[in-house]
Amino acid sequence: MNGPPARPYVLLSCAASIDGYIDDASDQRLLLSNAEDLDRIDAVRASCDAILVGAETVRRDDPRLLVRSAVRRAERVARGLPASPAKVTLTARGDLDPTARFFTAGEPVRLVYCASTAVEKTRELLGRLATVVDAGEPVDPGWMLGDLAARGVRRLMVEGGGTVHAQFLTAGLADELHLVVAPFFVGDGRAPRFVGEGRFPWHPGRRARVAGVRQIGDVVLLRYALSERCREA
Ligand SMILES: NC(=O)c1ccc[n+]([C@@H]2O[C@H](COP(=O)([O-])OP(=O)(O)OC[C@H]3O[C@@H](n4cnc5c(N)ncnc54)[C@H](OP(=O)(O)O)[C@@H]3O)[C@@H](O)[C@H]2O)c1
Repeated sequence: MNGPPARPYVLLSCAASIDGYIDDASDQRLLLSNAEDLDRIDAVRASCDAILVGAETVRRDDPRLLVRSAVRRAERVARGLPASPAKVTLTARGDLDPTARFFTAGEPVRLVYCASTAVEKTRELLGRLATVVDAGEPVDPGWMLGDLAARGVRRLMVEGGGTVHAQFLTAGLADELHLVVAPFFVGDGRAPRFVGEGRFPWHPGRRARVAGVRQIGDVVLLRYALSERCREA
């Protein structure tokens, strides 16, 4: 019999402009998806045990990271699950605002994977709002995934930003990528891109497998299989 997997199934989710930007350079959050696609993302969230974003996304976007649909929340509860998946972030500095919606919205478990040097300060800052895990120095995403598996997370959705996505991709820790392309350009070099420079396991000599393509209103969803664990759509 197989033992529990060493790490959760990892699904990366991202929306980008035609020219590969995931935001603009302004303080306002850039809306890339449309309503139908946001509902699809809600369904993906509802299918996961935990949702992870980087600390910069918590600071800049202030996401709630909850399942929005009452029907999906009720279905999860009927299956003995919490209404929304656990929320997870990682930080080296521990500079997180306890009034951010990551910490105040909903009732789910909240985990903060924190570099050792900032653990004490972060625990003081967040109090009972989240479990602050001493994740070493620097935080190793592979170790973090092992810890999440030990906490019962079998399916993890990673919703960005680029720094976090790049780490999972370059470390070969991603099973599936959902990339939504919005029908416009940002065209501003100051804006963040999907990922920056790095040594990615997929390159001209090793092409990723397309697991599905779907038009959703005015956006396109590209699904890439990044490991053998990803089944065909
Ligand atoms: N279009 C989309 O789908 C989408 C989705 C999400 C976000 N975004 C955009 O992405 C941008 C933010 O992306 P980003 O790349 O700047 O930031 P990010 O990936 O959200 O977060 C980066 C931060 O996470 C922490 N971190 C990452 N890896 C770590 C590690 N190994 N150890 C310890 N801490 C680690 C650090 O936090 P500390 O600084 O606290 O140490 C780091 O500064 C925003 O503009 C947001 O709007 C777009």
